Amino acid sequence: RAEVVINGSSLPAVVDRSNESIKHGIQPASSKWRHNQTLSLRIRKQILKFLDAEKDISVLKGTLKPGDIIHYIFDRDSTMNVSQNLYELLPRTSPLKNKHFQTCAIVGNSGVLLNSGCGQEIDTHSFVIRCNLAPVQEYARDVGLKTDLVTMNPSVIQRAFEDLVNATWREKLLQRLHGLNGSILWIPAFMARGGKERVEWVNALILKHHVNVRTAYPSLRLLHAVRGYWLTNKVHIKRPTTGLLMYTLATRFCNQIYLYGFWPFPLDQNQNPVKYHYYDSLKYGYTSQASPHTMPLEFKALKSLHEQGALKLTVGQCD
Ligand code: CTP
Repeated sequence: RAEVVINGSSLPAVVDRSNESIKHGIQPASSKWRHNQTLSLRIRKQILKFLDAEKDISVLKGTLKPGDIIHYIFDRDSTMNVSQNLYELLPRTSPLKNKHFQTCAIVGNSGVLLNSGCGQEIDTHSFVIRCNLAPVQEYARDVGLKTDLVTMNPSVIQRAFEDLVNATWREKLLQRLHGLNGSILWIPAFMARGGKERVEWVNALILKHHVNVRTAYPSLRLLHAVRGYWLTNKVHIKRPTTGLLMYTLATRFCNQIYLYGFWPFPLDQNQNPVKYHYYDSLKYGYTSQASPHTMPLEFKALKSLHEQGALKLTVGQCD
């Protein structure tokens, strides 16, 4: 009977359509995937009407001074003052100024990466983006090691580093930051007031220990601009996830974009359970109720772009 080949593994085409993971299966076979340069360029041009990654990747030093007041994007009534530390860590020029890469990898955090063997392939890309300080050393075979940009939502400090309650956790975070070795650390500092202290702790740690990272703090308009772009394309996202933000930004400076670790479903294409994150024990309910993200909707949009050759999604094993 008919079969569809999905990144190396084959599945019977006659399947229970109610099953989320099958519904979202990637077709056609990855070997048949071809990059559609015309479409990629058209998308870049459209996105540029809403935002410019070169500028929106970070607020620059010249535009703020210590003591300036900023209204949080999601909590408009709450404000923060630009601290001396934050000011010191603002870049003078965009870390992406005049940057262009032939191929980029964006590595999401889904457990679908486990046993994928994708590490080597990921590391061959010219620019590798990772999310939320996800660990790499222990998972190198599946996720690779190369990191050119890594994001850090302030909530990660609570979730993965116990809010730095003691010296052990501070040291753990410090080791992770030292491991970044000059890459860009992208901190959405102006989104929600809950992250205020956490951002300050991390800033202080970086300065105190002379950590070799290039800090970047996304512009105040980025989130709404990204939402605007996707809304115009009929993708109604309440709050774009880090992964979608990274894809939207990457269209500006990457010719070809490869996505790994994007799979917001609890079963894989062979019906095996998939962890929500490849490295921790967070559960799926976490996204559907509490979180404002609409990952499956985003996934549908990304899958459609995969099918048109604008990006390549890998949701199984690498060759
Ligand atoms: N992701 C995915 N499927 C999962 C987990 C993550 O597709 N099961 C993708 C999403 O695009 C996500 C990115 O990988 O944005 C990074 O994962 P995570 O750190 O969980 O992302 P956040 O969007 O920052 O989530 P949160 O707001 O919960 O911190």
